[in-house]
Amino acid sequence: MIADRFNRPLRDLRISVTDRCNFRCTYCMPAEIYGERYEFLSKDELLTFEEITRLTRVMVSLGVVKVRLTGGEPLVRSEIEKLVSQLSQIEGIKDFAMTTNAYLLTEKVKALKDAGLQRVTISLDTLDNEIFKRMNGRGFGIEKVLEGIESAEKLGLKPIKINSVVKRGVNDHTIVDLARYFKERDHIVRFIEYMDVGNLNGWKMDEVVPADEIVARIDAEIPLVPTESNYRGEVASRYRYKDGSGEIGVIASVTKPFCGDCTRLRLSAEGQIYTCLFASVGTDLRGPMRDGATDIELEAIIVGTWGGRVDRYSEERASITKPREKKVEMYHIGG
Ligand code: GTP
Ligand code: 5AD
Ligand code: SF4
Ligand code: SF4
Repeated sequence: MIADRFNRPLRDLRISVTDRCNFRCTYCMPAEIYGERYEFLSKDELLTFEEITRLTRVMVSLGVVKVRLTGGEPLVRSEIEKLVSQLSQIEGIKDFAMTTNAYLLTEKVKALKDAGLQRVTISLDTLDNEIFKRMNGRGFGIEKVLEGIESAEKLGLKPIKINSVVKRGVNDHTIVDLARYFKERDHIVRFIEYMDVGNLNGWKMDEVVPADEIVARIDAEIPLVPTESNYRGEVASRYRYKDGSGEIGVIASVTKPFCGDCTRLRLSAEGQIYTCLFASVGTDLRGPMRDGATDIELEAIIVGTWGGRVDRYSEERASITKPREKKVEMYHIGG
């Protein structure tokens, strides 16, 4: 096990497999910036599946027990199930999940399950079709996403979690409907405070709906009780429904930051590691790897990077007077 400067161990690896996405969510890849001609990474810039698997193996030897595939949208990377299959053979990974917008999930779900994926988390901000179309920036309707969720349930990729980013004046009036719909289906909705990730989403504090307000609004209609975390450092605060069926989570990265227990490392699609969602720069592993570095040498770079880690952006946010000039974008390192 390795620890950073605040004694936080490395436990959780989030792998971005592509910077591309079939959606253009306003809070992540606004369509006016990421238009049709935007240049994403080329094939040779992307880590190969073998390279990703090799790095993951090294990180597991350093303490990683949780692995999540993200993007962009992971399902737009072709033959992603082959990567899933390679990763699922690594001994020591206890939790292996994927975050997806589920638009392509129905057609991929069986291959993913067969390859060894354990569960999925699906991004879905609202059940209101018109609002959904606006928020995903592409005018896509909600049907394929709901179908994708059902297909994952049928194959047992559970527990299924639904991630919903809440923006004031955009979808905040639809949170109770979302909670109710998934309560009935026994999936866990996690409401996420809209964050100032990257530099391009035009984030403003007054668009953030504090987690306490989200909980109060749901509790007023369907009573809730707070419940304990599943594990130390869990991002979501959990609430159970008083009637005994189901739970929700809130992710209060803005109003109640959780950096103190942050054990997450992010690997970008081009092979850089980032020690914070709000980092400006990453540490390159692709270059050394393609220049012939041994596993021991790669390990040394990772240990050095993690060992020097002092990130606690969300906790510092309140005292920052000038916004950080350059932050990596969410689609580049995954959520
Ligand atoms: P579980 O393993 O299912 O508990 O998932 P998780 O808690 O790792 O949550 P998930 O990967 O679904 O992340 C949910 C959302 O929380 C992300 O999309 C981000 O918006 C936010 N989030 C996750 N990790 C971090 C983090 O390290 N820092 C901040 N500020 N936000 C995070
Ligand atoms: N604030 C909060 N969550 C975000 N996500 C993407 N951008 C933001 C943001 N600015 C979430 C998505 C998805 C996950 C990958 O990250 O909704 O669930
Ligand atoms: Fe794509 Fe997810 Fe970003 Fe939306 S939040 S644009 S689905 S990567
Ligand atoms: Fe971890 Fe950075 Fe998020 Fe804090 S802001 S929880 S350090 S990723």
